[in-house]
Amino acid sequence: MEKIDNLFDKIVKIANSRGFVFNASSIYGGLRSSYDYGPLGALLKNNISGSWWKDINQDSKVSIFPIDTAIIQSSEVWKASGHLAEFTDPMVDHKPTGERFRADQVPENLKKEDLTEPRQFNLMFETNIGPVQNENSAVYLRPETAQGIFVNFENVQRTMRAKLPFGIANIGKSFRNEITPGQFIFRTREFEQMEIEYFCRKENENEWFDFWVNKRLEWYKGIGIPEEKLRLREHEENELAHYASKTVDIEFDYPWGWGELEGIANRGSFDLSSHESSSGKDLSYFDSETNEKIAPVVIEPAGGLTRTLFALLCSTYDEEVINDTTRTLFRFNFEIAPVQIGILPLSKKEELIKVSNEIQQTLQKFFRTEVDVTQSIGKRYRRQDEIGTPYCVTIDFDSLEDLSVTIRNRDSMEQERIKIEDLLDYFLKI
Ligand code: GLY
Repeated sequence: MEKIDNLFDKIVKIANSRGFVFNASSIYGGLRSSYDYGPLGALLKNNISGSWWKDINQDSKVSIFPIDTAIIQSSEVWKASGHLAEFTDPMVDHKPTGERFRADQVPENLKKEDLTEPRQFNLMFETNIGPVQNENSAVYLRPETAQGIFVNFENVQRTMRAKLPFGIANIGKSFRNEITPGQFIFRTREFEQMEIEYFCRKENENEWFDFWVNKRLEWYKGIGIPEEKLRLREHEENELAHYASKTVDIEFDYPWGWGELEGIANRGSFDLSSHESSSGKDLSYFDSETNEKIAPVVIEPAGGLTRTLFALLCSTYDEEVINDTTRTLFRFNFEIAPVQIGILPLSKKEELIKVSNEIQQTLQKFFRTEVDVTQSIGKRYRRQDEIGTPYCVTIDFDSLEDLSVTIRNRDSMEQERIKIEDLLDYFLKI
């Protein structure tokens, strides 16, 4: 694909105008760096997370248990995990304006100006539980879904009779009071994670680390992010999170340059042993074949759902000049597209609507479909292109005679005529 000018601005605009992403509280002027996902964005999120679940649950090489844990946990969790003490960013104030920045994100033009010394700012959102606010009522919105997994390690292992190696996967919202959020949905204070903690024996940690780096990279390619937009980057010693001995980021080529899409970390036994000593509960793994007690090592592929959605918008957006007009499109693949098949009766005449409704009823049991009857057929094709619909089915007056319809392919714009009775099979074979 050609490089696209002003890609970032175009994505923000089309995401809003076509119902992918709206600024939160927009009728009140909007809340900075907070976003709502519109109908197409919500569908796209569902499709991405569905593909993630499917990819890890239907792979015979791994054993993964899903879990869905609370956003608010006991504050003891965050003490033990180190987040209360360590989950901080260095913050500086720009004295003339009082503006605050993360120390490594001060804009170039202010760098030489009057800045305070950096001080540590904890990124967790604090709130209070119950009606009485006192020193024991403070709780925190989770800054990562991972801890919900660690504190349930024993519950899952026992109830599922899980044998090493196995993983637990958690998906949901996390919250970080970022000092400088920005770049649309790339860095927001409320975001959605897709995390796996894969528990294994220490002697196999490198093998599983490499396995997960490779598997996650392949998944990003599989959902339609081109290979040349992805790369791996290992963290330097001074970048590592407090719990990690090694981290490799899968980076994406965002409109402003390379940045993190997912981090794969070796968290060792850090979390389970911290929770074990803080809670007093035995969180070791007992191998009944060898009669050994083992402290499992954890490999963590931590993906961002909302960040993946953004990367997909950026890498599948395209523009083509056709007969002096530009058509814009998202080249979503069939699995991920919010709408997979657009159903377009050529006119609103009752007999055509009847046929298109019948087609819709058949196809929507298997696919995400949308019937569009407004405007000219050309404009409707353009709109479906703009929202990334891979196929359109057009019903015309000949359809009443030959019982056939036209399938139009978004990418090639080629059209083919096909019997209505063969339509379902055609799409099931894609
Ligand atoms: N659990 C790792 C992360 O939230 O980045």
